[in-house]
Amino acid sequence: MVSTRPRSNGGDLRIFFEPESVAIVGASRTPGKIGNYILRNILKLGYKGQIYPINPGASEIEGLRSYPSVAAVPAGVEMAVIAVPAHLVLDVMRDCQRKAVKGVVVISSGFSESGKEGMERQRELVQLAAEAGIRVIGPNTTGILNPEGRFTTSFVDLKGVKPGGIGFVAQTGMFAGMMFQYIFSSQYFGLSKVIGLGNKADVTDHDALDYLSQDEATRVVIMYLEGVKDGRRFLGSAGRLVRRKPLVVIKGGKTEEGARAVQSHTGSLAGRDEIFEALFRQVGAIRVTDFEELIDLGKTFAYQPLPRGKRIAIVTLSGGAGVMAADTCLECGLVLARFEPHTLARVKVKMPSWASPSNPLDIEPLSEVVKQEGAYRLGLDAVLSDPGVDLALVVMTTFKMDRVHADYVLEVARAYPEKPVAVCIIGDDAIYSQLFRIMEEASVPVFRSVRRAVASLAVLYKYRRFLDSLA
Ligand code: COA
Repeated sequence: MVSTRPRSNGGDLRIFFEPESVAIVGASRTPGKIGNYILRNILKLGYKGQIYPINPGASEIEGLRSYPSVAAVPAGVEMAVIAVPAHLVLDVMRDCQRKAVKGVVVISSGFSESGKEGMERQRELVQLAAEAGIRVIGPNTTGILNPEGRFTTSFVDLKGVKPGGIGFVAQTGMFAGMMFQYIFSSQYFGLSKVIGLGNKADVTDHDALDYLSQDEATRVVIMYLEGVKDGRRFLGSAGRLVRRKPLVVIKGGKTEEGARAVQSHTGSLAGRDEIFEALFRQVGAIRVTDFEELIDLGKTFAYQPLPRGKRIAIVTLSGGAGVMAADTCLECGLVLARFEPHTLARVKVKMPSWASPSNPLDIEPLSEVVKQEGAYRLGLDAVLSDPGVDLALVVMTTFKMDRVHADYVLEVARAYPEKPVAVCIIGDDAIYSQLFRIMEEASVPVFRSVRRAVASLAVLYKYRRFLDSLA
């Protein structure tokens, strides 16, 4: 069978992220409608290219001159966003063909996710795009977000949007939109690029991975996947990407019930889970099961370097948390570092005579002599300067914390830029939130749970080991 899919141009999705001009087809005059949100979002972001609202019933929308069709625009149109009801989309595509538009994001639902008629409509859409040489993202998606390039096709509220090092690919546009809303409203890292693939009529997983692999702003890719259309090409693209940057994936549709939900959601085939498991392992992608983990790993990779080895130091003000951390380290494939005599002597000399330092390093006795901040500073500096330590976890408590700052951890961590550090904070919620902001703004990942902190550090090591295995 001859494929009607346009030949991939090496996965170059630049036209979608940095178009010189964009037409918004269905740019509604009515606030609250999707086409109106899209136009407002583009304006709010401060997009620098030409914007052409398209609406046969209007001459001006949101202060911009509007045109009845894409073909009526008196200049070139590089890219179009289509947000009209599904039955109008093919006509709009023909219009885009006449105008030699290069890329189209189809927001509209009513394609392969919605039964026989929708499937046929999607087949025709693919055929038309192939004939016209137009790349298509979607249908049934929110499309893309490029915070640094100040461009989006999304209708989701962009409050707090900020650029950063994490690229995010989601099969489903709404999930992509809700995830970036969650990230921008609760996290301190930014995103490099977001791609919601929707039904993947044309642009698909491997195109997104090829693009993000080359994208310099992207340090790590996080991905929500329901099914893969072309397993061989996915394997190739994912394999190339993980040689340059980590790929963290959630694969939906693991169970039979989940797979059925996938079919009605985006019209994808979820495929056998064991096959995906093997595929991810083979290419070195990191599989997680929950979006909290996706964020934990994304930010840890984005903030911290990869360790040279697996020898971890635990510096803790809570003995109990130190024990839990030690257990978790071993379960996650890390080992407790054995401190050099010099390291132990450095801390022992500042401890009461009854104390005997080891790893985990309980700094409570230290705090009795040099106060809490001094104990964190000395304890962390001692272990990070130890050549037998590759990475460190600091377990902080909010006990007796009368001034909320974190210089005593951040300054030391900064002095050892080659050794990853993560922090777990136990105690008062309001103080946790303040420390979370201070530390994450300084690129030190903070966690509420010992397990999540250790698991995230352990994945840095696993990825290092994977890269070493390629050498
Ligand atoms: N070209 C351009 N604009 C046209 C048009 C055409 N051929 N025909 C109609 N329009 C205008 C309409 O007049 C309207 O503008 P107005 O409000 O100023 O009158 C605008 O386009 C939108 O059309 P309307 O019929 O009001 O559609 P809608 O806004 O109710 O719904 C979709 C359009 C795309 C949002 C809807 O069909 C849909 O698919 N919704 C689901 C979207 C979604 O969730 N996607 C997946 C995300 S994960």
